[in-house]
Amino acid sequence: MMIHDTWDPVAALRRDKDLPDDALVELLDTDKMDEALAAAADSVRRSIYGDQIYVRGLIEFTNYCKNDCYYCGIRRDNRMAERYRLTKEEILSCCKKGYALGYRTFVLQGGEDPFYTDEKICDIVSAIRTGYPDCAITLSIGEKPRESYQAYFDAGANRYLLRHETAEEEHYNKLHPKELSLANRKRCLFDLKEIGYQVGTGIMVGSPYQTTKNIVADLRFMQELKPDMIGIGPFITHRETPFAAFPKGSLKLTVRLISVLRLMFPYALIPATTALGTIHPLGREMGLEAGANVVMPNLSPVQVRKKYELYENKICTGEEAAECKSCLEQRVAGIGYRIVTDIGDVKRGGNE
Ligand code: 5AD
Ligand code: FES
Repeated sequence: MMIHDTWDPVAALRRDKDLPDDALVELLDTDKMDEALAAAADSVRRSIYGDQIYVRGLIEFTNYCKNDCYYCGIRRDNRMAERYRLTKEEILSCCKKGYALGYRTFVLQGGEDPFYTDEKICDIVSAIRTGYPDCAITLSIGEKPRESYQAYFDAGANRYLLRHETAEEEHYNKLHPKELSLANRKRCLFDLKEIGYQVGTGIMVGSPYQTTKNIVADLRFMQELKPDMIGIGPFITHRETPFAAFPKGSLKLTVRLISVLRLMFPYALIPATTALGTIHPLGREMGLEAGANVVMPNLSPVQVRKKYELYENKICTGEEAAECKSCLEQRVAGIGYRIVTDIGDVKRGGNE
């Protein structure tokens, strides 16, 4: 065996899709390896997904929420939030617009809003399924009983996004009121997997009280869950929350973590998120160049966009769907990738 006097953590991470905890902490805590990390991540992503960028049309259909998460701008106790709900017809008209623009995945996201009973959700999902049989339907509507997840799946939903937010209980309890538990969040994620959904999870980078060790625990949890999609974005302060005084998460650390995720989960679908585009005008581009391969343009009607304010200064709230589409196309082409009209399923490979 050759003896190395300088160990290269990036090469090791790429080869083994893993590193010991202490090496991960070190890699996440330094900016010295950023260029090498991004180059390795981009090369891995190109070997699997080429220069293709998948798009998901995001429909934010309700900002009512029964939960009171301390970080979130649409939490129940924010009396300043102007609440709205979209009708089934409005949602379908978003899909119509999105389909014409080439989107083959619709993401229905909302707060946990009891107005939308399982029956209503199934009715909306079936209508989209019937109208757009060649499209994927992704739900992102929070924690539900297993039977509800099963019903949505039977109605035609294929994918589900539910960030675990943090994999350590102590940290989880600092971000959420006591009615919410990490155990139930995990239960939801494993139920969704077992039912047959393509599952997405993720975290906020730089959420209050987060440590690098927390992030390593998140990576370990993701190794256990084996998600198809991993969404991360920086925490961004919202004035009407208990976390109003906390600083926002770091751009650099978010981009670095995208690269680490690509190397650990080569086949994962990783979005360059709106939050990343919000903390820096070129944040999404940086994410894509560091290993991300998905963008999620907003398809919600312009008149409600500002109201879905999870965090402050969110981008794309004044644009029409078509404007977002051409903006993104230009941004993506400008850095040498290509937006494709494709359902964009996860590719299966050696990390399953
Ligand atoms: N900053 C950044 N991301 C946030 N989210 C919620 N609130 C914020 C915030 N203040 C993220 C959470 C949630 C997703 C829909 O949005 O991770 O899962
Ligand atoms: Fe929405 Fe640029 S992506 S305006």
